[in-house]
Amino acid sequence: MLILGLESTCDESAACILEYRGKQPSRILAHALRSQEEIHQDFGGVVPELAARAHLLHLDRLVGKTLAQAQTGWDAINAVAAAAGPGLIGGVMTGLLTGKLIALARDLPFIAVNHLEAHALSPRLAEKIDYPYLLLLISGGHSLTATIEGAGRYRVWGESRDDAAGEAFDKSARLLGLDYPGGAALEKLARRGQARHDLPRPLAGASHCDMSFAGLKSALRRLVEETNAAGGAGGKQQEKTRADLAAGFQLAAAESLAERSAKAMEFHLAHTGAAAPVFVAAGGVAANAVIRQKLRETAEKRGFRFSAPPPWLCTDNGAMIAYAGGEKLRAGITTGLDFPPRARWPL
Ligand code: KG4
Ligand code: ZN
Repeated sequence: MLILGLESTCDESAACILEYRGKQPSRILAHALRSQEEIHQDFGGVVPELAARAHLLHLDRLVGKTLAQAQTGWDAINAVAAAAGPGLIGGVMTGLLTGKLIALARDLPFIAVNHLEAHALSPRLAEKIDYPYLLLLISGGHSLTATIEGAGRYRVWGESRDDAAGEAFDKSARLLGLDYPGGAALEKLARRGQARHDLPRPLAGASHCDMSFAGLKSALRRLVEETNAAGGAGGKQQEKTRADLAAGFQLAAAESLAERSAKAMEFHLAHTGAAAPVFVAAGGVAANAVIRQKLRETAEKRGFRFSAPPPWLCTDNGAMIAYAGGEKLRAGITTGLDFPPRARWPL
């Protein structure tokens, strides 16, 4: 089944034509993505109005591009899926309407997809992973652990009590003088540094599964201020300190995520009794190599198989929307064309 997937909830416009294959890993026939990074960079964050306009300007062309790339015509497409939230409402409306109108014009089944659910299911796109599995979802707006029992069947164990992991990365990157979105840039800077500062692992040892990142970000802010006050060294020394701080923050975030995930593994095992448990990480922050490594070590030590999608499928993309649409269709779920765009829409 060929499914067209559309993503427009934040600052990436993306379209994908996916050959959805049910229990087997699916095949991405074509994928087009346009990031809006350079539009928002000057503002230090995503400007909703500008994002919506850019989606409106580019989505049509991206859809055309995927059709050409897949060397296929409309007649071959079997269904349309679009992200209907949660996200910035103007962008969500743009992608959702585009999807609905294509479905209407071509008389195709339509599926409104929850963007978080698409991240949650994304590990199954590229690799054979059976339900149930334990998920760590770490994106720009959300951080949570949940047992995924099937499309639409989730048991959430813990969530961030303050900043999302990606938000903490973005804010910390900004403190270190890096452009928005800072996660990937911070990882790059950290490669040149050593984690030598003392930074907290919030909620470590807690008996629940919640996470917290605000304290870590504040601790980093204090260290940055101290460094700036000490100022004098300037030049190379300052640069080295920035890299060390980036490495310190990244390690603390990675260890904190691993420790909180280890707690969720206990809950997952007690809940499912799975003999061959699987732990997957998804969402933009799961593109981070240090975090992936820490999560893998933690999982394998506890008898879990670890999996994470390739980095480009961790950050926002159209393939995960098409895949989630396929999972819904397989479960017999389609959406009416009156489905509303949703700024908020929990998993
Ligand atoms: O999943 P995503 O693309 O969009 C949302 O649904 O939010 O996640 C974006 C977040 C941003 O906060 C970005 O800074 C972060 O993922 N991110 C990273 C890396 N790549 C993206 N954080 C840490 N290391 C990375 N390599
Ligand atoms: Zn996302």
